[in-house]
This record gives sequence, C-alpha cells and structure tokens, in this order.
Amino acid sequence: MGLFITFEGSEGCGKSTQSRLLHEHLRAAGYNTIHVREPGGTPIGDQIRAVVLGMNNTEMDPTAESLLFSASRAQLVNQIIRPQLAADGIVICDRYADSTYAYQGYGLGRNLADLRTVTAIATGGLAPDVTIWLRIDPAIGLQRKQTAAGELEWNRLDAHELSFHQRVAEGYQDLATAEPHRWVNCDAGLSIAVLATHIRTTLAPHLDKVPRRAIPVNERTTL
Ligand SMILES: Nc1ncnc2c1ncn2[C@@H]1O[C@H](COP(=O)(O)OP(=O)(O)OP(=O)(O)O)[C@@H](O)[C@H]1O
Ligand SMILES: [Mg+2]
Repeated sequence: MGLFITFEGSEGCGKSTQSRLLHEHLRAAGYNTIHVREPGGTPIGDQIRAVVLGMNNTEMDPTAESLLFSASRAQLVNQIIRPQLAADGIVICDRYADSTYAYQGYGLGRNLADLRTVTAIATGGLAPDVTIWLRIDPAIGLQRKQTAAGELEWNRLDAHELSFHQRVAEGYQDLATAEPHRWVNCDAGLSIAVLATHIRTTLAPHLDKVPRRAIPVNERTTL
C-alpha cells in the first residue's frame, strides 16, 4: 500500500529543502515517488493556499482558517495521495495534518478534539506512516527565512508574534511524544547534507515494503 512520509516543523526548519532532496534521491533510486506540499499540491488546493496564506487576509476567522486548510487537504488526499498509495507509490508531503494541530491548535488555541474531527472528515482517517520532524528554535527558523528573503515566501502565518511560534514548537513536541513510533525527531541545526543522510538512513527499513524498478547498473545510487 505504498509509503506516506510527511515533513513537519516550524518555519524555516528545512522541510521544503529536505523533502525535495529525499524525493530526488528516491526517484533516482528507482522508486515511484511524488512530492507535494500543504496547503496546496493540487490546482484547487493552490487557490486555497493563496487565500489562507495571503498577507492581505488579516481578518481571517480562525475557524474559517482551519476549514480552509482541511478543504485543501481533502482535495490533495483524494486527488493525489490515495491514488498514489494505491499504486504502491511513495508520497512525500511537505506539511500535513500535524501542522493543523500545531498551528491552529497549539498556536491559535483552537480545540484539538474539534480539529481532529474535521481532519478525520477531510482525510478519511489517512495518517502518515512516518513523520520527519525537523526540530528548531523558532527564532532561528524565522531568522533563516528573513536571511533568505526574496527567495522564500513570507506568509500570513509567519507574521505571527514569536510567542505564537513558540506555542507551535511546543505543540510539535507534544504531538511527537504522543506517537513516538511515527515521529522521527531530527536536529534541524545540522547541515543540509548531514540531515539528508540521516533521513535516508532512518527511512531505509520502511522502503522494504515499496516496490522499485530495476535500475541499469550505470544509473544506480546507494541508499
Ligand atoms: N540544515 C540547514 N542549515 C542551514 N540552513 C538551512 C538548512 N536547511 C534549510 N536551510 C535554509 O533555510 C531556509 C529555509 O529552508 P526551507 O525553505 O527548506 O524551510 P521550510 O521549513 O520549508 O520553511 P517554511 O516553513 O517557510 O516552508 C532556506 O534558505 C534554506 O536554504
Ligand atoms: Mg517550505
């Protein structure tokens, strides 16, 4: 039934960098893999992304915000993720439901049980097999994004005060502690290359259950 991998963590921790590197590595190793991001990942989801992250939408109601994230997720799960898993493929998703719990739950103080109910409706209960958590001090992550300003999107959620981001980080800690079998806790302060290797090594046992096409000898990479 394929393999569903998500990347989570605070702003600027390296989710997009590491999820892309993993996708490229697995594709080169012969796996059928797709790389998507939330919110978005589909044409409809990308339109929702523009609304939910738009810097001008300062009057966004927190309930509306949670439902928009879930609407984007429902579209992604049904249009892309489920068909890919049904084809025994790998899905690498840059943020998923845990972001809702961390940001709208811990960050904005929305009721976690309600968020779980809405998420269950949106996803039909589809949970990741593995979640790579890139753990970082939120102040450092935000600083990374500011340093890279121009290249990276600065969105409506980034613009929250630091205490919001600290609550989000504590939320990730709680979520990871509650489900240690699914979460892989990585120190996001390590170099990009060291982290990429660590993530590949950690995932190796999970890849046993995923089919892979035969690669010509001259194209092979080690895993
Ligand atoms: N391990 C690392 N060490 C130092 N800098 C890094 C590391 N990983 C990523 N960066 C840099 O930090 C910035 C943010 O990285 P990236 O966009 O991958 O983070 P992100 O978690 O996807 O951020 P966002 O939450 O905004 O989506 C980029 O400029 C990237 O090059
Ligand atoms: Mg990103």
